[in-house]
Amino acid sequence: MTVGIDKISFFVPPYYIDMTDLAHARDVDPNKFHIGIGQDQMAVNPASQDIITFAANAAEKILTDEDKQAINMVIVGTESSIDESKASAVVLHRLMGIQPFARSFEIKEACYGATAGLMLAKNHIQQNPDKKVLVIAADIAKYGLNSGGEPTQGAGAVAMLISSNPKILVLNDDNVSLTQDIYDFWRPTNHAYPIVDGPLSNETYIASFGKVWQEYVRRTGKTFNDFAALTFHIPYTKMGKKALLAQISELPEEEQNRLLARYEESIVYSRRIGNLYTGSLYLGLVSLLENSTFLNAGDQIGLFSYGSGAVAEFFTGELAAGYQEQLNPSYHQQLLADRSQLTISEYETMFSETLDIDKDQSFNDATPFSIRGINNTIRTYKEN
Ligand code: CAA
Repeated sequence: MTVGIDKISFFVPPYYIDMTDLAHARDVDPNKFHIGIGQDQMAVNPASQDIITFAANAAEKILTDEDKQAINMVIVGTESSIDESKASAVVLHRLMGIQPFARSFEIKEACYGATAGLMLAKNHIQQNPDKKVLVIAADIAKYGLNSGGEPTQGAGAVAMLISSNPKILVLNDDNVSLTQDIYDFWRPTNHAYPIVDGPLSNETYIASFGKVWQEYVRRTGKTFNDFAALTFHIPYTKMGKKALLAQISELPEEEQNRLLARYEESIVYSRRIGNLYTGSLYLGLVSLLENSTFLNAGDQIGLFSYGSGAVAEFFTGELAAGYQEQLNPSYHQQLLADRSQLTISEYETMFSETLDIDKDQSFNDATPFSIRGINNTIRTYKEN
């Protein structure tokens, strides 16, 4: 029996800014954002949408009634929790109409949380092959207006259904994990924005990929040649490329170009969305599978997950027969095309309109799942 990703889809809020506009507003050369950082657009979310509505909109796209009966575990990986106690997965479980006898909980370790969820789901399905697990990666990446991290913000969710005999990616059993207690990016309780040491975060990311990759090679004897593509956590699209380049510089040029071409296919969506934190690696996977014409069933894919603080993991999977039929590129492209572009002044206003949980209020948002209002500190949701 095999276990892995049976279905996958993403959702992003319906607003974005163009990075040229942001560069002009911040008096920066646009090439720094487009080339230096590798971002063309950035998703912006209104106060009427949160990680639960992102998750519900993403999950609704992939779940059938049969799936909702078979799911007995719902896991949300996030670093944008909306409650210190109650897990967003519990609300999501109700919004999705999943049968009641299920475990629902949230996992946190920066951008790594959803990978922990994915591995837990895999172990669970190995023990319960007739069940399914819904794994969500949902976040709002916010560093603050005029901050150093501002061009690397974003928002959205990726939903994955994990099952036996999966139709997209069969997960192998060769993970290499790494934990290092480093303060490169952290957000103390009650801080609205993370504190980030940008250069240290870049260095730690690059070094972490080197460490898990080298350990993987030592344990398995495999090389880059064994992989059709590698996909990375993408805080901004230049980041994964830097980590990859640091490891492949000794390879023949043709081999380097092959891996770099696949990397470009994995960042098509991220260039237009920005950082999804926990979802970025999985957005990269969707992008790779939906935008590459060079992949085939049976190909091995390497995945690098990185969560500041820091936990990293390299793991691998094999593309399932007919995986292309399980994807939905036209829906994802339309989702991006249908977004409204904001001026920088509109973005700054939307960015500053944060939800005050102590103030009763209501919203009128047309997005299928969105916040209906706040009532006595409880969020109520408009359901599809
Ligand atoms: N044309 C082309 N390129 C230009 C340019 C121009 N006119 N001007 C600058 N550049 C290039 C620079 O040379 C640099 O390239 P290299 O990194 O290849 O040298 C790049 O643009 C960025 O320039 P700076 O380093 O000067 O940018 P910065 O000081 O504004 O910081 C940042 C960039 C560190 C990414 C910052 O935006 C930040 O702190 N972001 C948040 C933290 C982050 O995303 N860290 C990533 C690793 S941590 C992680 O992965 C977890 C997570 O999700 C947060």
